[in-house]
Amino acid sequence: MTEQANVMMIIGASKGLGRQLALHFSQKGYRLVLVARGEKNLKAVGEEIQLRSGKEPLVLQGDMSQEEDVERIVSVALAHYHRIDVLINNASVFGPGPSVLLDYPTDSFSDVLLTNVVGPFLMTRQVLPTMLAQGSGVVLTVTSEAGQTGFAEWGAYGISKFAVEGMIQTWADELEESGVRMHLIDPGEMDTEMHAIAVPDCDYPLARPADAIPLFERALHLEKSPLRIAASEEESE
Ligand SMILES: NC(=O)c1ccc[n+]([C@@H]2O[C@H](COP(=O)([O-])OP(=O)(O)OC[C@H]3O[C@@H](n4cnc5c(N)ncnc54)[C@H](OP(=O)(O)O)[C@@H]3O)[C@@H](O)[C@H]2O)c1
Repeated sequence: MTEQANVMMIIGASKGLGRQLALHFSQKGYRLVLVARGEKNLKAVGEEIQLRSGKEPLVLQGDMSQEEDVERIVSVALAHYHRIDVLINNASVFGPGPSVLLDYPTDSFSDVLLTNVVGPFLMTRQVLPTMLAQGSGVVLTVTSEAGQTGFAEWGAYGISKFAVEGMIQTWADELEESGVRMHLIDPGEMDTEMHAIAVPDCDYPLARPADAIPLFERALHLEKSPLRIAASEEESE
């Protein structure tokens, strides 16, 4: 870490994987911007970090699928830290529990795509000019095996992750030689609130969110490729 520690913005930092990323990277010395819709859980993570490290992260309530929230979040973060080195697009929603597409409600389909696809698009687009002006930056976007394989009853969630993978591939191609790197991280199945919605009767052991941290560490220290880093591939190496 440099003398003036790097600034990392984590979207969806109040629970599950995002909370674990916040705890880990604050220990690593990053100056953090933590974002989620629900203020109570988010503030609790901020307070936990302050207790453990004595450092106070910037805690910003907001919805990444709403353009005015995204503009506010990025402008407050820049006013506070004057740079953004890492954006982690971690937040997403599963939508209603398992449902075949034939029965899938239209409003849920729209809501899931708005949050899971438009959200990371807005966040990334808002942060990119700062990274391009810096000549450096890393955007890590969390995906899933469901972004490469269509699973029955996972509805708009899997479809949204296919879209996210296409978006990051497109952006990586557009940003070649810019100094800004894009990576997709597939953390594998983890024991979180989202997993309980996706697989309500889960009867097999799950990884902990903390087990996915090495994937993010690896992505931060890459020169460039691979674009996609998956827990399943790391295990088989
Ligand atoms: N759990 C798994 O097995 C699994 C497997 C593969 C991939 N993933 C991916 O890993 C990532 C983290 O999942 P998780 O299991 O940790 O989920 P989670 O426990 O449900 O946490 C999701 C986080 O995102 C926030 N969030 C949701 N919508 C938001 C919005 N519109 N704006 C801002 N923040 C928002 C939530 O807080 P609020 O609700 O308060 O906003 C929460 O902090 C997701 O991208 C997920 O698709 C998970």
